[in-house]
Amino acid sequence: MSEQSLSIRKAIVERRSIKKFNGQPVEREKLMQIIDDAVWAPNHKNREPWRMVVACGDELKDLQQLLRDTAIPKWRELTAESLEKQMQKFTTPGAYVFVIVPEDVRQKIRLEDYAAASTMIQNMQLLAWDLGIGSCWKTPEYLDAPEFRSVIGAKSGERIISMLQLGYFDDIPKARERKKSSEIVTTFSLKREE
Ligand SMILES: Cc1cc2nc3c(=O)[nH]c(=O)nc-3n(C[C@H](O)[C@H](O)[C@H](O)COP(=O)(O)O)c2cc1C
Repeated sequence: MSEQSLSIRKAIVERRSIKKFNGQPVEREKLMQIIDDAVWAPNHKNREPWRMVVACGDELKDLQQLLRDTAIPKWRELTAESLEKQMQKFTTPGAYVFVIVPEDVRQKIRLEDYAAASTMIQNMQLLAWDLGIGSCWKTPEYLDAPEFRSVIGAKSGERIISMLQLGYFDDIPKARERKKSSEIVTTFSLKREE
């Protein structure tokens, strides 16, 4: 792993979700290092409530076919040109990470596990950004579709919470402004306004 180049603040504030990748492959060693570092996320009782299915390099072709069949079921009716255009959002990322969490029947545990996995995903996004790799956390409806789940290998009692697309990019999208603390913070007080 290269030495950290960004301050934590810079990484958090300047990271943007990348939705247009340039097609450059993502190195598997970098991806595995990102994952090995990201799992140092906070998680209650050290349950480490996540596992990942990764596609990178040679596996990408098969995954792209699955995404085509799932997301564009009528792809056979399209012209080659139109299909290629619609497929760009699937063919240009250099790697995919499907993050899978257990879905405990107890709501508290289920929410804790989802929260923990979310912090781990944010870690992945920030670590990738530090290496010049963009990412976007995507939650298309088909992540819950039985056929898709089955090909990805999600078992009963598990949920795919993210299709994380990763890849190199040429442009950084403009940030949408965030609300300021003055808009979202109230100061604690025992005296409640009626
Ligand atoms: C739980 C979650 C689900 C998301 N799902 C999608 C998605 O399905 N498609 C998409 O384009 N972006 C998705 N995003 C990315 C957001 O659109 C993005 O984070 C938001 O626009 C803020 O932009 P930024 O990440 O560049 O700050 C998702 C983000 C989160 C945290």
